[in-house]
Amino acid sequence: MSAAILDGRALAKTIRARIAAETADLVGRTGVAPGLSVVVVGDDPASQVYVRHKESAAREAGMAGGVIRLAGDVAAGALLAVIDQLNGDPAVHGILVQLPLPAHIDERAVIERVSAVKDVDGFHPENLGLLAQGSPRFAPCTPWGIRALLIASGIETRGRRAVVLGRSRIVGLPMALLLMQKGLGGDATVTVCHTATPDPRSIAREADIVIVAMGRPELVNASWVKPGAVVVDVGIHRGEGGKLVGDVDHASVGPIASWITPVPGGVGPMTIAMLLENTLKAARLATGQATAP
Ligand code: GUN
Repeated sequence: MSAAILDGRALAKTIRARIAAETADLVGRTGVAPGLSVVVVGDDPASQVYVRHKESAAREAGMAGGVIRLAGDVAAGALLAVIDQLNGDPAVHGILVQLPLPAHIDERAVIERVSAVKDVDGFHPENLGLLAQGSPRFAPCTPWGIRALLIASGIETRGRRAVVLGRSRIVGLPMALLLMQKGLGGDATVTVCHTATPDPRSIAREADIVIVAMGRPELVNASWVKPGAVVVDVGIHRGEGGKLVGDVDHASVGPIASWITPVPGGVGPMTIAMLLENTLKAARLATGQATAP
């Protein structure tokens, strides 16, 4: 038996259609279209691709906004000034600064400068704090999308052993917080492994659900996975011959897992769908159509 596919592409399509309908409804009731501004610094090819996808998904959903492209050697002050301008623009409901930023820019200062009520990435300390308290306003898009995919697929997290491989602010850390929250999609017993963990493989092997976000191409093979486990692959890398590969060796893990996310077509499309969901929520909050923490 090989693993069933956690089809993020199909679920994201359904979610995006719902968001488009809800966006049209918001526009009809308030005259306000949700506005998403994406800021990208430099010309990293992967970031450029991600940003294009985010822009076209927002446009397809009936949202306004666009991408602001800044040179890789932009002064930190100039980037902060752009953020200040977006913070003050009532047509902008969501702001996303694509990461990573060039080394000369303090990422933390940038994240903290984005207005917490426009922080659709969920990276601002106020939003991370709300998430840690169990009442998220904007949860980071990738783990929020993984949670949605597990729930939609009927995968029980309550009482299960979940192992998160990677402790990044973008994925691993918020993923662990979501899995340990009370309620739907949470209530798991969570372990986080990282670069200082001596033997992550043996810990991963204990997991009923393993979230792989290590940024290492095809590192996780069948020896890391308990037969019957659910495997979520957050990685995306350009492999030999231009083929896209994840952090998981799918040829080896696919035959023993119960469920697995494909690469591409698993986690990536869900990240974008959740960005739209957060942007719609930001616009609802700004127009008094919703309340939140
Ligand atoms: N870089 C990789 N993933 C993300 C993300 O979800 N948000 C931002 N801003 N940058 C990223």
